[in-house]
Amino acid sequence: MIGTDIQRAATLLQEGKLVAIPTETVYGLAANAFDANAVSKIYMAKNRPSFNPLIIHTNSIKRLVQWGITIPEKMVQLAKHFSPGPITYVVPKSNRIPDIVTAGTDAVAVRIPNHPLTLQLLEKLDFPLAAPSANLSGYVSPTNANHVQQQFGNIIPYILDGGSCNIGVESTIVSFVHPTPTILRYGGIGIEAIQEIIGEVNDKPKENGNSIATDNPIAPGQLARHYATKHKLIHDNPLKHIHIYNLQRIGIISFTTFYPQVAKENHQILSPKGSIEEAAQKLFAAMRKLDEMDIDVILAERFPDKGVGKAINDRLKRASILE
Ligand code: TXA
Ligand code: MG
Repeated sequence: MIGTDIQRAATLLQEGKLVAIPTETVYGLAANAFDANAVSKIYMAKNRPSFNPLIIHTNSIKRLVQWGITIPEKMVQLAKHFSPGPITYVVPKSNRIPDIVTAGTDAVAVRIPNHPLTLQLLEKLDFPLAAPSANLSGYVSPTNANHVQQQFGNIIPYILDGGSCNIGVESTIVSFVHPTPTILRYGGIGIEAIQEIIGEVNDKPKENGNSIATDNPIAPGQLARHYATKHKLIHDNPLKHIHIYNLQRIGIISFTTFYPQVAKENHQILSPKGSIEEAAQKLFAAMRKLDEMDIDVILAERFPDKGVGKAINDRLKRASILE
C-alpha cells in the first residue's frame, strides 16, 4: 500500500517490518537497524548479496553519538555543510550495530537524509533505519513511489510516498576509516565541494577507472555491473553507434541534444536547458522508461564530468557493463 501516514510507517518499523521511505536521493527499503531479523528481510526482498553492507539513516549527529559512534572531526565539518543531505560517512562501527548491517566489517555507513517526511519519521523512532535503495539488487534505483510499487508492491506492507526525489542519484560516500578521507562512490554532492571543506581527499572511483573489479573490497556494493537496464546500454557518443542499429529500435539518453535520425518519442533529453542537477534528477526514471519500450539498445551520452555529472557517468558506465 502507498500512502503518507508517518505513524503507520513508524508502527510497522517498530514491529520489525519493511517500509519503503522517500529520501532526496532515491527511495530506500528500510528496517530497524538494531533488529538483525528485520534487516535480514531487506537482503531477502532485494536478493542482495550478504557481503554488501547497508547504510543506516537517522536525523541527527547527536543520536549517532548516543549510539556509541565516534564522529571524526572532518566528518563534523562536512556534516555542518551537507547534512541533512546526499552524503554518507563511513566510520568505525559501534557494538550497537548488528554485524548483518555492516556485512561483518568494522565500519558502518551513516547518513542523515534530507526529506521532510522521512526526517519526521526518523524523529519518532528510537533506532536508526538500515536502508539500501528500494530496487532489486543490480537494477536501476527508484526515484518515485510507483517505481517501488512495481518491484515490491506485493512484498512490503507500506510505501511512504514523498513524491519524486529531488536529487535523483544516490548519496556520495566518504570513508573515514582510511588514512586520508576516501570517496567510495560519486553521488549527489560533488567531490569538488567536499574538497573545499576538508581539503585533499582520495578519489577512489577515479583511480579504479574502467577496471572496477566485480567486487571491490572497500565498497563491496560497488559491483561493476549495477544500475543496469534490461536492454543493452552503450555509454559513449551516440553518433558513433547510431548507424549500427535499426533506427526505429534505438533509445537515446542525452543531456540537451536531439538526434534527428531517431524518433522523438525514443528520446529522453534530461535537461534541455543544460542543468546537470536536473539531468541527475531525471536519469533513473529515464532509464526505466526506455527499458519499458520495445527497443534493442539504449545509447547514452557522456555527461560533463564534474559535480553531480560524475555520478551520472558512473551510473551509466556501470549500467553499460555486460555480464
Ligand atoms: O542515497 C543513498 O545512499 C541511498 C538512500 C536510500 O539513502 N541508499 C543507497 O544504499 O544507495 P545502497 O545500499 O543502494 O548503496 C549503499 C552503498 C553500497 O555500495 C555499499 O557497499 C556501501 O554503500 N556501504 C555500505 N556500508 C558500507 C561500509 N560499512 N563500508 C563500505 N561501504 C559501505
Ligand atoms: Mg543501491
